[in-house]
Amino acid sequence: MKGIILAGGRATRLRPLTWVISKQLLPVYNKPMIYYPIETLIKAGIKDILIILAPENSGLFLNLLGTGEEFGAHFSYVIQKEPRGLAEAFILAEDFLDHDDVTMILGDNIFDHDFSKEIQNFKKGGQIYCKKLDNIEDVKRLGVIEMKEDGTILSIEEKPEKPKSMYVSVGIYTYDHRVVEIAKNLKPSKRGELEISGDPSVNNTYWKMGELKACVFESYWQDAGTFDSLLEAGNHMSEKSYK
Ligand code: TTP
Repeated sequence: MKGIILAGGRATRLRPLTWVISKQLLPVYNKPMIYYPIETLIKAGIKDILIILAPENSGLFLNLLGTGEEFGAHFSYVIQKEPRGLAEAFILAEDFLDHDDVTMILGDNIFDHDFSKEIQNFKKGGQIYCKKLDNIEDVKRLGVIEMKEDGTILSIEEKPEKPKSMYVSVGIYTYDHRVVEIAKNLKPSKRGELEISGDPSVNNTYWKMGELKACVFESYWQDAGTFDSLLEAGNHMSEKSYK
């Protein structure tokens, strides 16, 4: 199992913080944001990691992270010239993946969960990770997953007005080697991006093949891509460090 961290993008919602610095280099309490997804992958036993970067600040990431030796891991890097969508990662990663399975994590998603078990149990197809939220207004802004107890997915809805469940898909995904071909065959969505969720998307393709499974987890998760969520993530990590 190899790993990908998606650390490109434009980070428009965090401007002016992100005019001259990448979102994933901003502090979340006492560490640059990208340390958290790196640690999540390493905790799950994934040490061969490709980091996808936008051209602008790529040198800063290399300076900060280097070969990965200090993390006990091995890092490779690739530049995504334009943010053409999350699923383009798999096309850019084709040589790196070399037909292996992959877990991809978004560079702005902060977890406090050990995904080892779920990843070790992965056999084939696609596997998404879901968390039950309390606030329906949050759910309405996200990808909502309706599922059976065994993880079989009944419906996937992007930003629904009337959510069928309170479970949302979060920014970590596991796929088998077919994901590269699936991504290559995707058409861009209405907003012109190659998508992981929505229609058309990588998840939808696996789901239609009957090969997409959901794993539920309960511990902390935050998408740190807005002012409030960035602040919340920093506060959470600060409180945790005093416990
Ligand atoms: P998003 O938060 O969806 O996009 P963004 O970071 O560009 O921010 P905004 O919506 O505020 O403009 O991206 C999620 C993660 O994926 C984040 O770490 C950036 C990364 N990403 C890429 O690496 N390439 C891409 O083409 C896109 C869209 C995102």
